Amino acid sequence: MAVNDARKAIETEEVVPGGENVKVEFENGIAWVTLNRPNKRNAMSPALNSEMHEVLDALELDDRCKVLVLTGAGESFSAGMDLKEYFRDIDDDHPAKVMKIRRNATAWQWRKLSYYSKPTIAMVNGWCFGGAFTPMLSCDLAIAADEAIFGLSEVNWGIIPAGNVTRAVAGALNQRDALYYIMTGETFNGQKAAEMGLVNKSVPKDELRQRTRELAQTLLSKNLHVVNQSKLAYKYSRDMDYDTAEEYLFAKQAQNIAQDTERGRQQGLKQFLDDKSFKPGLGGYNRES
Ligand code: COA
Repeated sequence: MAVNDARKAIETEEVVPGGENVKVEFENGIAWVTLNRPNKRNAMSPALNSEMHEVLDALELDDRCKVLVLTGAGESFSAGMDLKEYFRDIDDDHPAKVMKIRRNATAWQWRKLSYYSKPTIAMVNGWCFGGAFTPMLSCDLAIAADEAIFGLSEVNWGIIPAGNVTRAVAGALNQRDALYYIMTGETFNGQKAAEMGLVNKSVPKDELRQRTRELAQTLLSKNLHVVNQSKLAYKYSRDMDYDTAEEYLFAKQAQNIAQDTERGRQQGLKQFLDDKSFKPGLGGYNRES
């Protein structure tokens, strides 16, 4: 479905984006976005990558999506890039075409998802290998099933973790853990992923969806404009030097306040300083007032 068609559909609320390789379900502000090739362990093919662009573009403009959860159908989160369709089938294609296919993958897995205009949560329900680390780490938050199996398996079949996997892992794990798993290709489970800080937490598989829903609901209870501006401020400023970051964050704060239709800062200050009705250290201001 073309992006324009998706947008038109959203206006009339008739059509849900995706459908072939990606399934989208809406639930009270949460968009559950499911990589949906369970028979191929949700390996990411060029077609899936193109569809993800359409889905992500459509959901940015769709009020039914306030928080996005990325997960996988069946027993996998994703077995990474499709070894047939993303690698062997295009080995002999023109280098420019290969580059275009590569860029189309990283453009959503890294850039679009990382700087998405809505909060994102990766729900790692099962196998998570190689290329799947990139979208998993691009999500703002992540919850894994204790039983999920992770692996940087590239070394096992003769490649390095490319497509920004290595860079994403370097940003998330300490050097010892990163190199251990990059160099050995050994698998680890959700509990180990949580212990290393690769995901926020791991929970028993039968609680995974509910615990993810609860995390999404926590975000939904906040001023989502501010939540998302905070996330963008973190992601953009982390690679800046201190002086540039300071200047950027002052400017970002001004943008945050100017664009906040809920006027959270004003409400928060009034409710704490004048009404004495809440304590910012212990929870959010009353958004109903
Ligand atoms: N690319 C393409 N196809 C894949 C795939 C991938 N990354 N991962 C799984 N598949 C396909 C298999 O070829 C198989 O297809 P078929 O039924 O047409 O033969 C199907 O998915 C099921 O895979 P299978 O290996 O039988 O499932 P399993 O549950 O026994 O094992 C894995 C699951 C994830 C451990 C195993 O499929 C695997 O090692 N996949 C590759 C993981 C990887 O190294 N990814 C890194 C890519 S950078």
